[in-house]
Parts: sequence; structure tokens; C-alpha cells
Amino acid sequence: MDREFGVLRGFRESLPEEFELERAIVERSRDVFELYGYQEVGIPTVEPIGIFEIKSGEEIRHRMFRFTDMGGREVCLRPEGTPAIARMVATKMRDRPLPIRVGYVGSMFRYDEPQRGRFREFLQIGIELIGSSEPLGDAEVICVVDALIKSLGFREYYIRLGHEGILRGVLEKAGIGEEAQNAILSRIDRGKVEEAFKIFEEAGGDAEYRELVSALLEPTAGNDLEMVDNIRGLVGDIERCRFSLDNLKEIFEILTENDIKNVKVDVGFARGLDYYTGMIFELYCSGIDVALAGGGRYDRLLALFGWDVPAVGCAVGVDRVALAMRERGFTLRTRKVERVVLSPIDRESSRYAIRVANRLRGMGVGVVLELSSRPPGSVISRARKAGVRFVCFVGPRESMENTISVRDLKNDVSFVLDPEGVAKIVGGSEPRL
Ligand code: HAM
Repeated sequence: MDREFGVLRGFRESLPEEFELERAIVERSRDVFELYGYQEVGIPTVEPIGIFEIKSGEEIRHRMFRFTDMGGREVCLRPEGTPAIARMVATKMRDRPLPIRVGYVGSMFRYDEPQRGRFREFLQIGIELIGSSEPLGDAEVICVVDALIKSLGFREYYIRLGHEGILRGVLEKAGIGEEAQNAILSRIDRGKVEEAFKIFEEAGGDAEYRELVSALLEPTAGNDLEMVDNIRGLVGDIERCRFSLDNLKEIFEILTENDIKNVKVDVGFARGLDYYTGMIFELYCSGIDVALAGGGRYDRLLALFGWDVPAVGCAVGVDRVALAMRERGFTLRTRKVERVVLSPIDRESSRYAIRVANRLRGMGVGVVLELSSRPPGSVISRARKAGVRFVCFVGPRESMENTISVRDLKNDVSFVLDPEGVAKIVGGSEPRL
């Protein structure tokens, strides 16, 4: 095909069987959200640039799909959902009792370098818990993601848990301003530690604290809580660090008590979004070196929209979860209605076929209608290939008697029934039409 008309780099088409898995993941997430009291909301796909320029972080700002709309406004395709939720809650949901729990599902767009599990359009499922600064809230968000990942069948995965206040506390103490702190943390997030230290020096950071940053970035040994205690010794008098370590420890303990044991505390962990103020985490599974989910606490973002309340949340990347599931051979069924194939045996019976198909659909049975009459053998072999168990035929006799001839391909038997009888044996769902 002419390259000009091909799918753009980093974008994906999902064939029916691929899409079914993605849809199933989304449906499962909705079920899990509901169990925890999160209500789904809708947010715009196109946004003014400014909403992400304030706090989304250098990396995302540089990778937005920006354009000027026909009204001359500088807009972008949303690279993430959190700022839009912060705006919605701060401007339209202030009269509701706190905490507010909302969820969203939608495509996000980032001009990332495409690679395995990294696309330019990807589907995120997010939850945000607004109005609580309790460690229980931080833990809840992680529990929701953990419950979802477990319910999808994953067993080998781990949660990397950190706290934005640890590195920031040291950088602040070293006399580094917020903008340079953001730049340093963004480099650390991308593994560019040398660049991070260069910015540290250029920003006039106190050399004494450079060593402390280095120590925090060391892959530390020992059990997680011991490690936190060791670090507490190192950061000694820096109050923000001490508070952050205590907070991290409390969240870690709640998780452990809730049977979430695969948590690795990482005191030198940074995430690429500038709005984080507290706990941060990412979830990884074996075989894929990019995160399946990520999130954290952002206590100052809503204030930018006029309501100073704390918040915490996270987002799961559906494309990455689907990729990991496919590689593990995990399946998830979504088809809720049982499908039958219905074929008129001659042209004259097609009107009756449409009527009877609609009756069956009214009783919750999915019906795929053969549009032109073919020999029964061909209808049956096509149905078999498609994995359909029941094939229905209607002709002049059925039309007169208001019946359907059904062939059960699994048991190799045939019978004649009225539409209600067919719905009964096929197992229709709740009437939908
Ligand atoms: P994030 O870590 O940038 O956080 O993205 C969350 C998840 O989206 C990632 O863990 C990953 O699964 C998926 N994702 C990100 N970029 C790509 C990509 N290029 N291709 C495929 N999947 C990708 C956020 O977006 C925050 N808004 C999360 C949050 C909510 N924090 C607080 N509340």
C-alpha cells in the first residue's frame, strides 16, 4: 500500500480478536472500580495546551501532539487524564462529600519513540481519589490496581514503591529551586543520572547533599523496612525526608497487612510527572521492561484549579497489559450473548428470517443472519469455523408454523422449536432490546 495511506508509526489497529481482549480488560477494570466505589466519568480528548504545561512534566510536554485549531487556539491531544480530572472535580464537584472517587477510560497520545509496549496512542484506565491525605488512600489506589492485575491472572509482578518527598527533600535542602528539581527528577526517571548531577551542579546545589542523592540512588540491600531505617539515618535532620520516609513506611505496612507482599521500596525512585508530592509507584511484570501501571499522590494539583484538596491516583496501560496477557497465553471472555447463525433456506423465507432473528435478539440471543441463502452444508461448515454451536434454518414450513429448525453442532442433533424454545436452549441473556 502507498505509504502515505498506511497506519502512522506508533499507532495501532486492533483486529476483532485483539480488540476483544482489550475490551475485556476494560470491562474487568470497570467491575473492579465499582467494587471500590469509583464512578466513571468522561473527559475531553482535545485540551488546551496550558493544562499540561503547568505540571505534567518535561517529558510529556515535549511529546504532546499539538496543533492550532480552527479558532486559532493552541491545543493538544490529551497525553494523560489526571489534570482534566483535577479540573473537573475542582470546578464541578465541589459540593460533594469528600473523598471523591472517579475513574476514566480513554486513549492518550504521546509522541514517544515506538517500541515493544510503547505506542503513540494508548488506552489508559485511571482512577483518582480526591480529598484524602490518609495513607489508607494511597494504599487503596495500589490495592485497586493490584486487585485488577490479580483478577486478570497475573501472579509474577511487583510494585515499585517510592516517595517524591525523599529526593525533593534533599534537593530542597541543597538549595535547588523547584524547576531544577523537576528537571533533575525527570532525568533520574529516565536513568540519565549523570545529566541529573550536571543540572544539580549548574543549579548551585550544595556538594554535601550531592553525596546523599548518590546514596539514595544506590540499589540498596536488605529487607525493605530495614532499608528505610538505614536511609532515615542518612537523611537525619531533613524534615521533609523524615516525614516522607515515615509516610512511605506506613503505606508499605498497610499494603503488607492487606496481603500485597510483592512491594519493593525504592527510596531513589522518581517519576516523570511534576505534580507528584508524595507516594509514587509503578507496577511491573516479568518479561516486559516497561511499567503496566503507574501513579502517585499529587496534593497541590487541584489548587491550580481553585480548590486546595489532596489527591492520589494511578493509571493502567491497557495495551501493555494486553501484550503481557497475550504473551502468557491468558484469555478473558467478554462475549455476553450466545450467538447463533440463522439462515433462510430460500429467498422467499428471508422476510420471516429477519422477523424471527429480531424476536431472538429481543430475548437476548445474538443472531448472525446469512444474507443470501446458501446450501445448508456450507452454512454449517462456516458456523463450525466461527466456533458457533447452534445453526438455525427457516424455510416455508417454519414460516407457516412459526418455528425454527435448529442444528446443535456440538451434540450433532436437530430439532424444531418455536423462538422461545430456541432462546431457552441457547441461553439468552437478559432482554436488551
Ligand atoms: P504514566 O506513568 O505516565 O502516568 O502512565 C500510566 C501508564 O500508562 C503506564 O504505566 C503505562 O502502562 C501506560 N503508558 C504510558 N505511556 C505509554 C505509551 N507510550 N505506550 C503504551 N502505554 C503507555 C500517568 O499518565 C498518570 N496520569 C497516572 C496518574 C494518575 N497519577 C496519578 N493519577
